[in-house]
Amino acid sequence: MSAQILDGKAIAANLRNTIQQEVTVITGSGQRPPGLAVILVGDDPASQVYVRNKQKACEEVGFLSELIRLEPDTKESSLLALIDELNRREEIDGILVQLPLPDQIDEETIIERILPTKDVDGFHPYNFGRLALRMPLLRPCTPKGIMTMLEYTGMELAGKDAVIIGQSNIVGRPMALELLMARCTITVCHSRTKNLSDKIRAADIVVSAVGRPGFVQGNWIQPGATVIDVGINRQEDGKLCGDVDFASASKVASWITPVPGGVGPMTIATLLENTLQATKLHTAAK
Ligand code: GUN
Repeated sequence: MSAQILDGKAIAANLRNTIQQEVTVITGSGQRPPGLAVILVGDDPASQVYVRNKQKACEEVGFLSELIRLEPDTKESSLLALIDELNRREEIDGILVQLPLPDQIDEETIIERILPTKDVDGFHPYNFGRLALRMPLLRPCTPKGIMTMLEYTGMELAGKDAVIIGQSNIVGRPMALELLMARCTITVCHSRTKNLSDKIRAADIVVSAVGRPGFVQGNWIQPGATVIDVGINRQEDGKLCGDVDFASASKVASWITPVPGGVGPMTIATLLENTLQATKLHTAAK
């Protein structure tokens, strides 16, 4: 093993600490705390775990946190009405609708209904467009959390070759925009990409978000590369593992994120960061 571990758990704990201190200052001055509403539709087991972790993190830093659970057969019109109500409520700074949604609800319609200044996921076309135009406001949590981790390594990002595996709206695409904004050269790979392993071998930074255990092998990694593993896959024995074969990749990389304890905690801490940012947008406007 030669790689240094990029310890998301520790970096996230630091970030949460800073946020908690800011909340103490805000409430100490008589202002209301930041407020986040999380909506979970249905009973997908993974989503239930994610939502519980988000809510717990909110409470620990002193945010107002409201979890709204809806039945799996909820109509799109009911969810839109709920978002309208949360858009109007002054004590709510952030609205997070956990994805995926059941088939009868159109995700884009829902995301577009959230007030852009309450869109703490950064998924609204307004926020996504701002990121694409290099004028970011609220930025998608997982890619932003990864940028915080990369900053922690102290490495110069400008001019680096970055390969992203996965083109989702939640991770791959906004990750590409973040790294491009940091002046990396970007390659986004997906299921139709030719010669994937050759592209990965040419990368200084690899971000994998494919959701397949052990997909990225150690002999695909350029010696000294930084490897960011976004995959959270449950193995048959119930344990979590990433997309990257950690045992082989950690022998050649210079930095590598573990799973669990890498990107996952950063996503949640960044959600808190975004909610605090949204609070400032709402209170500064007063
Ligand atoms: N489902 C998986 N990741 C996310 C996320 O970052 N935000 C939301 N809202 N849903 C998700």
